[in-house]
Amino acid sequence: MRIAATTDSPLETSADTIAVGVFDGEDIAHDAGDGTLQRLLDRGEARRAFKHLAVAHAEDRRFVIVGLGARDAFDAERARIAAAAVYGRARELSAATLCWEVPHHVDDTVVAGLVEGTALSAYRFDRYRNHPEEDGALEALLISAHDDVGEAVTIGTVVAEAQNRARDLQNLPGNEATPAFLAHRAQEIAGEADGIAVDVLNEPDIRERKMGAFAAVAQGSAQEAKLICLRYEGADATGDGPLLALVGKAVTFDSGGISLKPGARMSEMKFDMSGGAAVLEAVGAIARLKLPIRVLGIVGATENMPSSTAVKPGDIVRASNGTTIEIVNTDAEGRLVLADCLAYAVSQGAERIVDLATLTGAIVTALGDSHAGLMSNDDAWAAAVTEAASVAGEPVWRLPLHSSYADLIRSRYADILNAVESRKAGSITAAEFLHRFVGDVPWAHLDIAGTAWDTGKPYAGKGGSGWGVHTLVALARRLR
Ligand code: BES
Ligand code: MN
Ligand code: ZN
Repeated sequence: MRIAATTDSPLETSADTIAVGVFDGEDIAHDAGDGTLQRLLDRGEARRAFKHLAVAHAEDRRFVIVGLGARDAFDAERARIAAAAVYGRARELSAATLCWEVPHHVDDTVVAGLVEGTALSAYRFDRYRNHPEEDGALEALLISAHDDVGEAVTIGTVVAEAQNRARDLQNLPGNEATPAFLAHRAQEIAGEADGIAVDVLNEPDIRERKMGAFAAVAQGSAQEAKLICLRYEGADATGDGPLLALVGKAVTFDSGGISLKPGARMSEMKFDMSGGAAVLEAVGAIARLKLPIRVLGIVGATENMPSSTAVKPGDIVRASNGTTIEIVNTDAEGRLVLADCLAYAVSQGAERIVDLATLTGAIVTALGDSHAGLMSNDDAWAAAVTEAASVAGEPVWRLPLHSSYADLIRSRYADILNAVESRKAGSITAAEFLHRFVGDVPWAHLDIAGTAWDTGKPYAGKGGSGWGVHTLVALARRLR
């Protein structure tokens, strides 16, 4: 879909379908010639209630009139939802070019939200279908406003496209989206924008660097593990700002290993690389936006499989920072992968860290699919991540870290256990495990096991959600 901003009025564009929003207590701003739209509103066929849709024909075009509800409740998230509603109707009408008339006096995040809601709604994953459903995808989206909204439209477009690419990676089956595939995708991303260098550590490198925790997960799989490292340095980066490390769990299939998962819905565990997908595509988006900062993207990619070479319950391994780990449950593999990735980020000079991981089923129980779990060793950094996530429409909820939880992962034989048999505080004890590998660097852990998949959102409800791409870009934009 081509997306462009214009200062032409919608009727001056070539759009065959025009979207017009109406707030509570307000009327149609620029009516089509003879007042058709306002009459529809007066008759009650079109309404101002949020998401209400009506269609009118005038001046040889179609108009989709959408209720926007109360003006002061209308934010970027409501813009995405309204855009998704309009997109659905435009598709039914076989629209080719849709022009959104931006309501007066809204901010840039609302403009970007209209773009995001449309582009995310238009996403389909049907590449394995020999006979995909014909659903009349839009050819072009125009955003018409009085002022120049080009920058907001560019940001919304770059973010939504990156999010859709992350959704592709999530939705791809595990036989396709292997660790090597993700490493290849990282190279592609580096080729698509300036300022990115890629470095891939293969399994011998991982062992050589004494990343015993990561290597333990990888040893059961025939697919070679990859530690993918992207370095972005904006052309205008002053070098003054902190080095931001984005760390992602990319378990391309999580069978549980020797601690095998039950069979029901095990296929969904192809999504266990969602954190890594978000990191890869967020770095790509940050580079496309030429943000003047320095970013390190680190993705730990491996399968978690049972085999005669697989790690076993009771095995003890040593991570690259020297910490010894008693592996009591091979299904708690994400924290093992992240342990060495986080230690690597610290060793590379990271000054702020965010990690994203589909880490625990417990976070799904606690927070469902609307909020990701946030755990952090630094209040100011936690607040910055919370704020960025909120404007991104990806809300988070903070859970505590505390020595009483750290006590639960004490091991009789090693420094720490990788799982707590009692299953108490499953998400927090996982975070306390990660905490051992970040030192004093301000760090925020996002457990996205509930928000990465099948969230039921109006604009990205099925399969991979691309959760985190937008939060990371929003965070990076605030950092400069
Ligand atoms: N990838 C899973 C987390 C997960 C589970 C995501 C269910 C979505 C739905 C992770 O590797 C895992 O298996 N975690 C275990 C940890 C436990 C063994 C301590 C879990 O949450 O059950
Ligand atoms: Mn697991
Ligand atoms: Zn996992």
